[in-house]
Amino acid sequence: MTARIIDGKAAAADLRQRVGQVAARFRETRSRAPGLAVVLVGEHPPSAAYVRSKIKATLEAGMESFEHRIPAETSQADLIGLIDQLNADATVDGILVQLPLPKHVDEQAVLTRVDPSKDVDGFHPVNVGRLSIGLDALVPCTPLGCLKLLQGELGDLSGMDAVVVGRSNIVGKPMAQLLLQANCTVTVAHSRTRDLPGVVRRNDIVVAAVGRPELIRGSWLKPGAIVIDVGQERVEQPDGTRKLLGDVAYGEAAEVAGAITPVPGGVGPMTIACLLRNTVVAAHRREG
Ligand code: GUN
Repeated sequence: MTARIIDGKAAAADLRQRVGQVAARFRETRSRAPGLAVVLVGEHPPSAAYVRSKIKATLEAGMESFEHRIPAETSQADLIGLIDQLNADATVDGILVQLPLPKHVDEQAVLTRVDPSKDVDGFHPVNVGRLSIGLDALVPCTPLGCLKLLQGELGDLSGMDAVVVGRSNIVGKPMAQLLLQANCTVTVAHSRTRDLPGVVRRNDIVVAAVGRPELIRGSWLKPGAIVIDVGQERVEQPDGTRKLLGDVAYGEAAEVAGAITPVPGGVGPMTIACLLRNTVVAAHRREG
C-alpha cells in the first residue's frame, strides 16, 4: 500500500482564506480589524522564526498585529505587567506568549494571567477545563489543526480507535480531549508505555507528538492507519546537511498507512492557520 499524502499546506491555505473573509466582514461592521498581540521574550532562534511566520500570516489575513519583543532578562513582574496591559486593550482580541519562556519566569503564572477570552493558544486553565467538559473553549492550535486534517481525510471519526503518542500540555493532552469529543476511543501513550509498538498497532488513527525523530516505525502501524505527525526536529545527516524529521519514519510508514502527513508541509501550516482562526473567533465572542 502507498499512503495518500495529507496536504497540510493546501488545507491551511483554504482555512486562511476563509479566516480572511471573516476578518474582512469584521472590519466592515466594527470599523477595526481583529487584533493579535504576540509576545516574544528573548532571542531563542526557532521561537523568533515561528513568531515572524505568525505575524506575517496575521497581516496577510487582514488582521492587526501587535508585536512585543522584550529582552530575556525581563522580570516576571514586568512580563505580567505587559499581559495586564494587553488584557485591558480593547483593540487586542488575542494574546500569544511564545514558549518556551526564560528559566527565571514561571510559565504557568504568565499563561494564567492572560484573559481567557483572549487566550488564542488555549493554554489558560479555564480553556483547558472548558475543553475537557465539552464547553465552548479556545482550543490549542496544533491539536485543532490535527483534528481538522483528520476530519478532512475521514469525515466522521465516531467509533475509531485513536492513539496519541505524547502527553504534553500543548499537544498530547488537548489532542486526546478533541478526539474523545469526536467520539474516538482514545489511548494516550508516552515514554513509560509498555509495548508502544503493540499499542500503536491497535489503532486506526495515530497522532505522533513526542519530539523524537522517527521513533514510530512503519512496522508498528496497522495497515491503512491514518498517521498525523506533529514532530519536526532538525537532525544532522551523515553528509553534514540538516534535515527536518518527524516523529514517524516517513518512508516506511507511507508503505503501510492509508494516509500520512509529510514533514514539512503537514501539521505545521495548520498550526498557524488555526491561530488566525482562534483570533477571529475570540474577536467575535468578545464583541458579542
Ligand atoms: N511554542 C511551541 N509551540 C507553541 C504554541 O503552539 N504556542 C506558543 N505560544 N508557543 C509555542
